Amino acid sequence: MEDKAFSSIDLVGQCLTDSKRTEAFRNAIKSMVKPRHTVLDVGTGSGIMSLFAAEAGAKQIFALEHDNYVAEIAKINFSKNGFNKKIKLLKGDARNFKYQRNIHFDVVIMEMLTTGMVDEFQIQAVNNLHDKGVVNKNTIFIPQAQKTYISLAETNFNLYGFEIKMVQYLWEGFPGRHRCKIVSDKKLLHEVYFSLPKDESFVQIIDFKSNKSTMVNSIFLSSVTILTDNFKIGDTLSLNGPVVFPIKPFKIKKNQSVKFRISYRFGGGFKNLSVILIK
Ligand SMILES: C[S@@+](CC[C@H](N)C(=O)[O-])C[C@H]1O[C@@H](n2cnc3c(N)ncnc32)[C@H](O)[C@@H]1O
Repeated sequence: MEDKAFSSIDLVGQCLTDSKRTEAFRNAIKSMVKPRHTVLDVGTGSGIMSLFAAEAGAKQIFALEHDNYVAEIAKINFSKNGFNKKIKLLKGDARNFKYQRNIHFDVVIMEMLTTGMVDEFQIQAVNNLHDKGVVNKNTIFIPQAQKTYISLAETNFNLYGFEIKMVQYLWEGFPGRHRCKIVSDKKLLHEVYFSLPKDESFVQIIDFKSNKSTMVNSIFLSSVTILTDNFKIGDTLSLNGPVVFPIKPFKIKKNQSVKFRISYRFGGGFKNLSVILIK
């Protein structure tokens, strides 16, 4: 992804119809949003999260979307469902949006998530809220956090008789999932809480221990989204898709330990993911 605000109507529709993900958010919103709350829905897409907040009885809801076409769809959806007064549509980029003076959000719903937040600007959008002073320590974030895990993997990149070495999302039910074999222990790469501002770049040194003698040629990333203290969600058809990312191949023996330096800028895309074998 280029360094511009993300837009995909295809993904918006995929998210909407992904009932495992969407119902989990609905339950989280229902459990947290109270009639006294002013709610901000960042990256509203179809507007479904704002509609859930309205259903939960929120006092006022602001729905922010940067893509004009998507924003118009959300606006129609608010109106068709009788919430055009309760839900106010805001158009702009969440990374630098100037919120109205003196507003305070009791609840922020933000689903601009990708696995490890490599590909979307959730961190920058969260940081902007903290910078602009429109959230405080009492603001409830839905989701409240994302945890990302990493393992070494051996992946068959042969597709249709050709060697196709590229990053791949292994979505739930995807027929190619079995081509990736995890060959080490699973380590926590990072755990990001949205109630705090966060450095937009990330670096971590990780030790892995192999569970077989093999040729390692990739890493495997997976994320879990912590919606509230009581709800969390792993991979679905549109959220937290496990990712296989090719690296320079090397041989490893069973129980051998290896050390890697992993770094990237959140939202910078896989082109900026660096995975370096240290020893
Ligand atoms: C993954 S979709 C989720 C849509 C909806 N929130 C849902 O959960 O069904 C992310 C949405 O965020 C919007 N978005 C992405 N980056 C944005 C940004 N920087 N500022 C505002 N909206 C953004 C996209 O256009 C898209 O509509």
